[in-house]
Amino acid sequence: MKKIYVLICILTFTIVACEKEEKPTNELEGKVSELLSKMTLEEKIGQLNLRGTSSRVKGKLPDSLKQAVRDGKIGAFLNVMNTEYVDELQRIAVEESPNKIPLIFARDVIHGFKTIFPIPLGMAASWDTEVAENSSRVAALEASSFGVRWTFAPMLDIARDSRWGRIAESPGEDPFLASSLTKAYVKGFQGENLNDPTSMIACAKHFIGYGAGIGGRDYNTAVISEAQLQNVYLPPFKAAVNAGSQTVMTAFNEMNGIPASGDKRLLTNILRDDLGFDGFVVSDWDSVKEMIPHGFATDLKQAAEISLNAGLNMEMTSNSFETYTKELLQEGKITEAQINSLVADILRVKLRMGLFENPYRVDKSDNLYADQHLAMAKEAAIKSSVLLKNDKNILPLQKTTKIAVVGPLADKPREQLGTWTFDGDGKFTKTPINAFENQHVNYNFVEGLSYSRDKSTQDFSKAVAAAKQSDVILFIGGEEAILSGEAHSRADINLPGAQEQLIKELAKTGKPIVLVIMAGRPITVGNILNDVDAILMTWHPGTMGGPAIHDMIFGIAEPSGRLPVTWPKVAGQLPLFYNHKTTGRPVKPEEFVQMDSIPIGAWQSSLGNTSHYLDVGYLPQYPFGYGLGYTTFQYSDQALSSNTISDNTEITIKVKVKNTGKRKGSETVQLYVQDVVGRITRPVKELKGYQNVTLQPNEVKEVSFTLSLDDLKYYDNQGTYSVEKGVFNIWIGQNSAAGLTAKFTYE
Ligand code: NOJ
Repeated sequence: MKKIYVLICILTFTIVACEKEEKPTNELEGKVSELLSKMTLEEKIGQLNLRGTSSRVKGKLPDSLKQAVRDGKIGAFLNVMNTEYVDELQRIAVEESPNKIPLIFARDVIHGFKTIFPIPLGMAASWDTEVAENSSRVAALEASSFGVRWTFAPMLDIARDSRWGRIAESPGEDPFLASSLTKAYVKGFQGENLNDPTSMIACAKHFIGYGAGIGGRDYNTAVISEAQLQNVYLPPFKAAVNAGSQTVMTAFNEMNGIPASGDKRLLTNILRDDLGFDGFVVSDWDSVKEMIPHGFATDLKQAAEISLNAGLNMEMTSNSFETYTKELLQEGKITEAQINSLVADILRVKLRMGLFENPYRVDKSDNLYADQHLAMAKEAAIKSSVLLKNDKNILPLQKTTKIAVVGPLADKPREQLGTWTFDGDGKFTKTPINAFENQHVNYNFVEGLSYSRDKSTQDFSKAVAAAKQSDVILFIGGEEAILSGEAHSRADINLPGAQEQLIKELAKTGKPIVLVIMAGRPITVGNILNDVDAILMTWHPGTMGGPAIHDMIFGIAEPSGRLPVTWPKVAGQLPLFYNHKTTGRPVKPEEFVQMDSIPIGAWQSSLGNTSHYLDVGYLPQYPFGYGLGYTTFQYSDQALSSNTISDNTEITIKVKVKNTGKRKGSETVQLYVQDVVGRITRPVKELKGYQNVTLQPNEVKEVSFTLSLDDLKYYDNQGTYSVEKGVFNIWIGQNSAAGLTAKFTYE
């Protein structure tokens, strides 16, 4: 497509007619060519080199590193966190290197830099693009002050298995929700102008299929059909490219036998030709080298050859490009034109970032942890929190309630920040205990367990004694930060350590228990579900988790998050996701036979032959999109503008939503569609729209969604993107398992 477009431009010689080829682009490409024409091969190879340093290394900047920059052998750095080094290395690059090409400094700024926002999975639970954009803008404002102009975010791996540690960094299981948030993240990171010194270029990662690793094990093999790739895993990347993300990172995993860092179809045909990406692609840490253990390259030289030919622009840390590109060129295994093209992609981005004119960081360190940033982080923590259970409306509590605060995460500044928070300072973190103290809450704090995996029962009696003297027990537990994130998968996703045991002891007091979970993933709660009266999932809520929890517990704010992933009953159900296929034997509730009710010696085929587990059935604990609030809503008067859709028409679906409770509240109105019969089988339902509304008691709002044929089209395994005539079911409701139903036909 892109090629045809360029061809038309050349043929007509009319730059004016080709919108994308307007003057600035020509100027930019002119500068790229001019630079390329002056660069030596060594310098070109240097641009392909992303040098990693450890932010933990202290001491003098090594002379060898300075010399490498002076010689033009490094294109970008990652993790240089000493600002004097940043300034000095950049000075050498722009004053002493042969063509004065500036460096880019990169960092994993995943959910905040100093001011930490909820983990990305939590941010996804907000279903709120404004909150997402604010979080990445704040991250860029703070990090750019340290010279970081490139973040390795957003992570866009669709994740359907909560055992995977990196689900914490993911946007969840749904491509539509993920894509809508992606746009907001990219906009926030990159700002209005890439050449603004507070703009941080985004990196859509990991391309692709990293979240589909077998069994939720990190780095594992992904087997993804063409249709799944296009319909499920690619859409967020497409959204990132359309939003202007300047970089993309390859994944560690292989997909269908080819490691992502060496997959030409992915990096060139799909990313560049189909999606029209014109930034640069970086490998993940050592992922080029890792093609050797993958069994895809015999040695580092061959790994370099494969990745260069696949279209990988910049290599993170494994140095194969630096070592072998020249040799590969001499041997004819790669051409100079290919090298030029790879370098051009990088130079184009550096030019767009304005680094040639303004290479140095602008120190705005006075805005680190700025009040406004903290306020946004608090708002995000509230909007991300999902109220899963609230029997007898125990929440919100009265301010006068006497509370026993128990649990290993009530006062753990580092832990509540979650994974990938190298720069967030625990000193600035506000824990629930800090907030309760500041707000003069009537509480008594006995930790009971000193960390989430703690198995010691020695303090249980103290916790129970405190509980007996209180009206309500607030148990703040979950997982420490280290239990989720990269390489931190778990096979059992219950509350770790002796937390369940402690909750059971506390339950014996007969006092109501409010469970607040801080974790990097859904936590299976079946063992203690009947022991607790309320469950509030706050994920790892970040710097302002404490004040956010305080406000939600006392009803100053309402938790308004909705699940971005299906919450399983037990890990054995995983992978579990709402948009699965029907199968030839879909579950029929009336035919489900629970294991304990099967007669001894039963005849093999006497059980309902449908797709379920004998022990836990077929339902999740909580469905995708689920979340309670402090009020109730009623949906009514669903109406379609037409019962048919055709090639040139759209359908508008309206519904009335009423706040039927006693206080103001927020609702996420969700639209799901099922294509009943397709040329390949279609999911039982798919999210096609959502809207957040806030209503006063008794207030009614009409919410409307418009669907066109484009919203219904899908890819098959031959790459055809279309939709067949036939019947579509729709649901508008509070989550993926509820809603008013209707039908329409594509004629
Ligand atoms: C490995 C991770 O997979 C990636 O997400 C991260 O950006 C790089 N390391 C750099 O730290």
